[in-house]
Amino acid sequence: MSETVTDQRTVSGVSIRLEGVTKRYPGQRTPAVDSVDLEIAAGETVMFVGPSGCGKTTLLKMLNRLIEPSGGKIFLGDEDVTGQDPDRLRRRIGYVIQAGGLFPHMTVGTNVGLVPGMLGWDRARIAERTDELLDLVGLDPEVYRDRYPKELSGGQQQRVGVARALAADPPVLLMDEPFGAVDPITRQRLQDELLRIQEELGKTIVFVTHDFDEAVKLGDKIVVFDVGARVVQYDTPEAILAEPAEDYVADFVGAGATLKQLTLTRVSDTELHTPVTAAVGEDSAAVVARAEEAGERYVVVVDGRGRPVSWPSVAELSRTTSVPGTRDDRLPVVGLRSTLNDALDTMLAASQGGVVVTGRRDAVAGVLVVEQVMAAIQSTRSEVRG
Ligand SMILES: Nc1ncnc2c1ncn2[C@@H]1O[C@H](COP(=O)(O)OP(=O)(O)O)[C@@H](O)[C@H]1O
Ligand SMILES: [Mg+2]
Repeated sequence: MSETVTDQRTVSGVSIRLEGVTKRYPGQRTPAVDSVDLEIAAGETVMFVGPSGCGKTTLLKMLNRLIEPSGGKIFLGDEDVTGQDPDRLRRRIGYVIQAGGLFPHMTVGTNVGLVPGMLGWDRARIAERTDELLDLVGLDPEVYRDRYPKELSGGQQQRVGVARALAADPPVLLMDEPFGAVDPITRQRLQDELLRIQEELGKTIVFVTHDFDEAVKLGDKIVVFDVGARVVQYDTPEAILAEPAEDYVADFVGAGATLKQLTLTRVSDTELHTPVTAAVGEDSAAVVARAEEAGERYVVVVDGRGRPVSWPSVAELSRTTSVPGTRDDRLPVVGLRSTLNDALDTMLAASQGGVVVTGRRDAVAGVLVVEQVMAAIQSTRSEVRG
């Protein structure tokens, strides 16, 4: 896949153009999708929102021809793919559905390697690609490669689903309410992962959701649809929040615009605190001395790749001889592209006054404390009032 870098942003996706795309299901009086025109730029994430039954899924499935259009044209880049063999087309378009859509009788590795296998890659190349992708979605290949889907949590299955969709490096990724079936905290982590992956890869992503906050968080653009997949508004999240095109959109966007603004502020937009870190196995006394010199009461313990393991107090560490490697499963962690809303949720869920922030490849990028989030709320409040 050729890659171009514009504005420091990697783009490996292609543009998508719809011209008069229509779907009439047999026996329906009105089309489910009624002559839709839409252009999606290469490398952008575009979110489809709108009421249930308005045609989002139908429109999405026409893009990879799981549903055959009744009329209109679909282009990938400059290429008219309307008449293209659907099997060939689907190798260029990754597809992610709820719960990952994994084959239960195949291992994680086999699931991820499916499309490369169909493309005739040799075994060594498939194995290498599978491990690379599991790593990309935050699953250790050594641990997960040979497991079966039922041995994984919902969130882990969803990660495998994303890895599988990316296996043949398709320029386009279609996602239909992929995170709808997981709990809120897992959903937030998966969203963060997707943002991180997208920053690295720059695919063209079309993502259906019923959650407007998710649309604001993940989308470069949002399409608000009404019945028949009529495009009511197509704009950036900021523009839609500021000026909803119709009352119906305003209702959908919902009340609590101040808190919605928190969804527009990324953790990376705030000034992060740089914590004292310690490597697993390091001499505790040395770490305690370092923390005291820096005036810090907490230390972030990191593994060999700089990823957070735990967040003990200096007092706790001083009771040990070497820094313990025990992973704290409840450690509050958010990604740099997380919203302040997520950060606040994570702090509340963990009953901690702060979160560890991770950046590239999940390495520690800093720490965010609740006071900073509060300050941000206060400043957006005064902006809205003023
Ligand atoms: N296979 C089908 N046969 C007939 N009607 C369908 C079929 N799939 C969806 N529909 C209808 O088409 C409309 C759009 O459905 P859908 O695309 O699933 O909407 P959404 O994803 O926005 O909820 C709905 O009225 C739905 O009942
Ligand atoms: Mg749907």
